[in-house]
Amino acid sequence: MAAKTKTTTTTTTEPVIRVSNLSKRFGNFTALNNVSLDVHVGEVHALLGDNGAGKSTLIKTLAGVHAPNGGQIFIDGEVVNFKSPRDASEAGIGVVYQDLAINPLATVTRNFFLGREMAVGLGPFSWMKMRQMDRIATEQMASIGIHISDPEQTVGTMSGGQKQTLAIARAIYFGAKVLILDEPTSALGQIQQMEVLKTIRRVQQRGDIAIILITHNEIHARLIADRFTFLSLGEVIGSGHRDDMESGDIRRLMAGGAELADLAAELAV
Ligand SMILES: Nc1ncnc2c1ncn2[C@@H]1O[C@H](COP(=O)(O)OP(=O)(O)OP(=O)(O)O)[C@@H](O)[C@H]1O
Ligand SMILES: [Mg+2]
Repeated sequence: MAAKTKTTTTTTTEPVIRVSNLSKRFGNFTALNNVSLDVHVGEVHALLGDNGAGKSTLIKTLAGVHAPNGGQIFIDGEVVNFKSPRDASEAGIGVVYQDLAINPLATVTRNFFLGREMAVGLGPFSWMKMRQMDRIATEQMASIGIHISDPEQTVGTMSGGQKQTLAIARAIYFGAKVLILDEPTSALGQIQQMEVLKTIRRVQQRGDIAIILITHNEIHARLIADRFTFLSLGEVIGSGHRDDMESGDIRRLMAGGAELADLAAELAV
């Protein structure tokens, strides 16, 4: 009898989203040059790089805001050509931008549904629909760890971490299978940063969503990411699985590929 071959499932699954040799130019400036990366279901893929590296340009291209000048995007193995953010959203790309698109004066529930409210109508049904929307918003946020006592409270009264969770829960509820988070911890204090990392961890543990996490924070990336891609001046300068990367590699790549000695030399004016 033939010996059974050992199979691994971790790296052989097809990526939910595959970016292949993507390029984007603005006039004659090249913001992205042949960028490739794969993002797998149930994984956090950290996208790291200095200011101007092209991180936001990459996510805007994935989100249908920019049309690429070259390369391809595959979702579940199929090429996609987004003509608008709506196309990307319908294909399951959910982006939580830094400004969160949240209205601080409206309630948690209103913000959760923002423009996608159930038809409320008039009379007793309107009350029922509102209660139903309150329940959905509360449950969805609780499922990733934030317990809101009053879904009718205004969002302006929530903490920064809770607002991030609201935006993440909303993206998932409305069908994101690729969740893109642009610097979700950058504007927060230490405790709230950990709250947001826990939220991201819960989404990761659901196992049905692929997450792209844009961050400048090496520690956060190391705490939570399964894979890393480092961008510098529009190009991928390094990538890998967490098991294959040393912290020294990560630090060097975060610095755009420079060695500490180079940086010290640069400081010595
Ligand atoms: N609409 C645009 N028109 C012209 N140039 C642009 C445009 N958008 C971005 N760029 C340029 O492309 C480069 C990459 O910008 P991008 O915003 O993607 O960087 P980033 O990695 O997100 O930086 P940061 O960490 O500061 O957010 C920058 O040099 C920027 O000036
Ligand atoms: Mg940016």
